[in-house]
Amino acid sequence: MTKNQNKTKKILFLPGDGIGPEVVNEAYKVIQTFNKYNGNLFEIDYADIGGVAYDLVKTPLPEETLEKAKESDAILLGAVGGPKWESLDYKVRPERGLLGIRKELELFANLRPAIVYNSLADSSSLKPHLVSNLDIMIVRELTGGIYFGEPRGVEVLKDNTRRGYNTLVYNSTEVSRIAKVAFEIASKREGRVCSVDKANVLEATEMWREEVEKVGKYYKDVKLSHMYVDNASMQLVREPKQFDVIVTTNMFGDILSDTAAMLTGSLGMLPSASLGEKQKNGKQYALYEPVHGSAPDITGKNIANPIATISSIEMMLRYSFNMSREADILNVAIKSILDEGYRTQDILGEKNLDIEPISTSAMGDLIVKELEKYL
Ligand code: IPM
Ligand code: MG
Repeated sequence: MTKNQNKTKKILFLPGDGIGPEVVNEAYKVIQTFNKYNGNLFEIDYADIGGVAYDLVKTPLPEETLEKAKESDAILLGAVGGPKWESLDYKVRPERGLLGIRKELELFANLRPAIVYNSLADSSSLKPHLVSNLDIMIVRELTGGIYFGEPRGVEVLKDNTRRGYNTLVYNSTEVSRIAKVAFEIASKREGRVCSVDKANVLEATEMWREEVEKVGKYYKDVKLSHMYVDNASMQLVREPKQFDVIVTTNMFGDILSDTAAMLTGSLGMLPSASLGEKQKNGKQYALYEPVHGSAPDITGKNIANPIATISSIEMMLRYSFNMSREADILNVAIKSILDEGYRTQDILGEKNLDIEPISTSAMGDLIVKELEKYL
């Protein structure tokens, strides 16, 4: 270990709403297991976000949470939202907490890997041969586009009809910085980037296409292609293995990443990383979270799949802490438990209906026990 790696790393846990606290608790066990073997390298703190924060202090992103987030070396978020808060004004809805922290820390690069574990190939709704060994990386722009564009709102017109509007806007620097992230990642993978837009209809994404082309010129070893989003959504379910890295806008990335997630069998499997720009002092804000939401229908039942959250720790080890050995070990531990046939209810798959599903905490315990074998 280098000197730098020995410095205590501050991780902020934001469990949030719904199943968030349940799955984050399993990630806690994983971090504590690493702590047991590496001299308490990680220090964990907690803060509120989303609906729970609103209930306490009437805002989904309290100042204190934001402060702690800025001081941390990495953040793990569970989930936000739920029916309880759906009727609130959109400005204080739980989702605004998540969108707020992404914006405040300028976490513009959202990495959403869709990887199929071979032992789960038959949990996918697609035929196993279409998804086995699937490994796609979706790079979603996260702090721009229609999610944040101004003007936005709903107004009542003179004739009493209502008019709702949002703005899809990107500037060229926003496009080139996310494109660069995609090309860098692709150059370490299979060397293919597919940029997804709607350039035939939306000018903003025609500009997107042109800017991605410009960045591509600097990456001679990466092959760039473009696809309209409607076609991309179809290709993802028709022949997903044609993709290596997909780079796309905030909203298209939101939609396509759910589709890609489902190819892997369950939303409960997929982690994500949201990264900011590297600052001059070397610091880079980073938030890790499962791609799934707060799943109110299964909250409190101890049946949610914690693997997406535990894999988010794997991404954290890799991207924030440069601890690829530990990340690899964690990955092996997850794979072994799946290979042994343990399943939470969401990944039972049709063929495995006779297996008894295990609980959230049992899955976490098994992974931790397996992890300890390699530490
Ligand atoms: C996601 C979610 C969020 C988004 C919501 C919860 C605001 O769907 O991270 O994909 O739309 O970005
Ligand atoms: Mg989404």
